Amino acid sequence: MNRAASHKTGSQPNGIMSSPATIPETHRFDPNFTQLVISATGPKTAPRLRKVMTSLIQHLHDFARENEITVEEFMAGIEFLNEAGRMSTDVRNEGQLLGDVIGLESLVDEITYKLVSEADSTPTATAVLGPFWRADAPKLEMGASIVHNIPDGDHTFLHGTVHDYLTGEPIEGAELDVWHTAPNGLYEQQDEKQKEYNLRGRFTTGKDGRYSFYCLRPTSYPIPDDGPAGKLLKLLDRHPMRPAHIHFIVSAPRYKPIVTQIFDRRDKYLEDDAVFAVKDSLVVDFLPREGDPKAQFELAYNFRLATFEDAQKHSLTGATDGTTTLATGNTSGSTI
Ligand code: BEZ
Ligand code: FE
Repeated sequence: MNRAASHKTGSQPNGIMSSPATIPETHRFDPNFTQLVISATGPKTAPRLRKVMTSLIQHLHDFARENEITVEEFMAGIEFLNEAGRMSTDVRNEGQLLGDVIGLESLVDEITYKLVSEADSTPTATAVLGPFWRADAPKLEMGASIVHNIPDGDHTFLHGTVHDYLTGEPIEGAELDVWHTAPNGLYEQQDEKQKEYNLRGRFTTGKDGRYSFYCLRPTSYPIPDDGPAGKLLKLLDRHPMRPAHIHFIVSAPRYKPIVTQIFDRRDKYLEDDAVFAVKDSLVVDFLPREGDPKAQFELAYNFRLATFEDAQKHSLTGATDGTTTLATGNTSGSTI
């Protein structure tokens, strides 16, 4: 379709161009164009996709109009996304990093997991998965260590209970999938010197709902900043640091899994996380541990889960069918 005729150019009858400021806002750009694009969606489109794409097109068009995005800026943005795509591999998810540094993963995490309930207790707060989770971490005996061949670092005994957030009952058969970086700030898949699956493990609770294992007191580290996400951080005058944290996915039969992180209170980046994931209830105090030759520190932390039924009842989105799929760029994806 030739839309040229419907564009207001700002040309007056005498041929003199008016300045943009004198053109009424509503007439500056073709007022029908966005609806034309939205209406092109065909009848066979799935309802959720139709809703999301309609909204996305509307917001992107409004954004372009509001900021008067030029062709040059559009092409720079496209090249930026293409560069992120070219950089992504099995062990590098630059697209997700971009979503992280603008707070989008943290926001959708809140939308997905938030429960609105009148109960006194709440399930454990969630935090972003990030791009470094790997499926199939080794299943370990309770009390085992996930640390291999790391000469430095503060060894820590981490323990607690997984229980139902409403009844307080311990949950048997809950799995904790845990991962964190080495003291050099690198996850094992980023670091040739580390053993495969180092600083990762899965632990399954018994009848008492208890778990325990040895890990390291975590270290703050920079997210990978040698690609487009790093470039964006620099342009926005921001640093790439994440406060020291340990990641968990906690799941159990009949319960909605949680993806979360706990953060060391002493960390200087707690208030200034490059990916905006810190929540007060996830900030913890590591304590000195006496009489254990295997650890200098200790941390007790309990996890609270909601049943699928309860989560469905109190969810903001209703998206709690028990088949959350983790399809990340660094794994083959897995259903939790
Ligand atoms: C992480 O904590 O592993 C992480 C989260 C978001 C972006 C990069 C790393
Ligand atoms: Fe991390």
